Amino acid sequence: MALKIKNVCCIGAGFVGGPTMAVMSKFCKEITFNVVDINQKRIDNWNNEDLDKLPVYEPGLKEIISKTRNENLFFSTNVKESIQNADMIFISVNTPTKKSGLGAGKASDLKWVESCAREVASYAIGHTIVVEKSTLPVKTAEVIQKILNSANQNTEKENSSFDVLSNPEFLAEGTAIKDLEYPDRVLIGGENKESMIALSQMYQNWVPENDILFTNIWSSELAKLTSNAFLAQRISSINSISAICEVTGADVREVSRAIGKDSRIGSKFLESGPGFGGSCFKKDILNLVYLSEYFGLIEVARFWEEVVNINNWHQSRITKIVVEKLFGSISQKKIVILGFAFKANTNDTRESAAIKICKDLIMEGAELIIHDPKVDPLQIENDLQIKPSSDTNYQNESSLNNQFGKWRFSNNLNVFDNAHAVLVLTEWEDYKNIEWDKVAKQMVKPAWIFDARSIVNTDKVKKLGINLWSLGDGSTKNEISDF
Ligand code: NAD
Ligand code: UGA
Repeated sequence: MALKIKNVCCIGAGFVGGPTMAVMSKFCKEITFNVVDINQKRIDNWNNEDLDKLPVYEPGLKEIISKTRNENLFFSTNVKESIQNADMIFISVNTPTKKSGLGAGKASDLKWVESCAREVASYAIGHTIVVEKSTLPVKTAEVIQKILNSANQNTEKENSSFDVLSNPEFLAEGTAIKDLEYPDRVLIGGENKESMIALSQMYQNWVPENDILFTNIWSSELAKLTSNAFLAQRISSINSISAICEVTGADVREVSRAIGKDSRIGSKFLESGPGFGGSCFKKDILNLVYLSEYFGLIEVARFWEEVVNINNWHQSRITKIVVEKLFGSISQKKIVILGFAFKANTNDTRESAAIKICKDLIMEGAELIIHDPKVDPLQIENDLQIKPSSDTNYQNESSLNNQFGKWRFSNNLNVFDNAHAVLVLTEWEDYKNIEWDKVAKQMVKPAWIFDARSIVNTDKVKKLGINLWSLGDGSTKNEISDF
């Protein structure tokens, strides 16, 4: 007889914990889901009456939350009580790259995972299935199991027992709800078949049984790191080809289309952009690098490290091109930045290419106006570590003698007056509808559009007399128009 799960606790109400539990609560009505976090503000936002204030922006999320919140989905900071009541606990906390100590800059910092495991060990009652939802280095399950086993050394506590499963999450931000509702596969790694079946039965409420894979726990942990490494590698590959396209007159979009038709290569994830961002690709590859080095596989480590190195190079390449095209100096030049999120349809800016590119442009003296439809300007300030300019017109502050430039945020697109250049960094739908003929009239000539997301219609814009540099398009490489 399979175990029947009635009460689930998810520790961590972030970009994964929130949407994942929301979708589970939608399809598993007979189960209660308690999502807990130590961050009171985040929990308050998850409970906000105004669904536009949820801490995570994902298309389709607020519609689910409006139906399941306070029905069978609850957000709180009651960590102890939720662990005590749970027969299954998802660990969905952050696992960033270590900043100091052994493995700094590469290994994952597991202090949040460890503290969760200790809390589960202290409070859990009876038999509890503990599920790794966070992305973790191979063999972390062993560490978690050891900490959980220590629970029974506490003589004041009733005996408890645990099974650890790995159930990595493959959702991408911006499409999280679709990815969760129609996953390519659900991966469950473990040893105890009964626990694996209990978790699988929850998913079977909406995922076909054939798409639920059982593996051993180490394969499951490694498959998640490998999946992100392969995806990031495709982006680094196509971005490196974009640089070759620019100098040879080829067009990376045509190259992508041509190679993507080969069914062995496939057409997805071949869009050249400003370099991959997001909280996970870099961290997970570096984790793989650390693991390889740890086991003495130096060549393997170097191979994967290069995927990250070329991504960093690619981001610097964009700043360099902007400076070069604007006659070698962008000091006091107004540049409009379209998009700060690391991709469209999310408010997440972690590791966004925009952070490095904007910082570099400000260091070169530029005056940036940054627009993003979903990112909070406070988040941008936090990412740039530079206060925004208080003068909205940039007129009263003399930056003539200032070494550095400045930035301000705009929540609308009336920003092109007197701009020397526009740089598209995120592929938001709003930007695809910009009327460039009107924009062209407002800009300082010779005006430049730098399109790092291939959203601007090259033929149309060329006719308007604006100079266009489109990433990876060799036909737009050296045009200076006199208009
Ligand atoms: P996040 O930072 O958005 O959320 C993590 C949350 O955990 C935070 O709100 C934090 O306050 C909370 N937390 C930390 N320690 C806690 C504790 N002891 N008790 C209670 N709450 C605690 O992170 P995220 O983006 O949701 O990522 C979580 C994990 O999922 C990471 O391992 C990540 O690699 C993985 N992942 C992320 C994505 C993604 O798209 N963001 C996709 C797949 C997998
Ligand atoms: C990625 C993976 O796609 C998810 O499967 C995984 O679960 C997740 O990481 C994770 O572990 O965190 P995410 O980072 O949210 O998801 O978004 P992606 O769509 O993968 O985009 C990552 C970056 O690559 C973005 O900056 C995006 O603009 C860029 N990208 C993506 C390209 O430049 N070109 C492409 O063709 C695709």
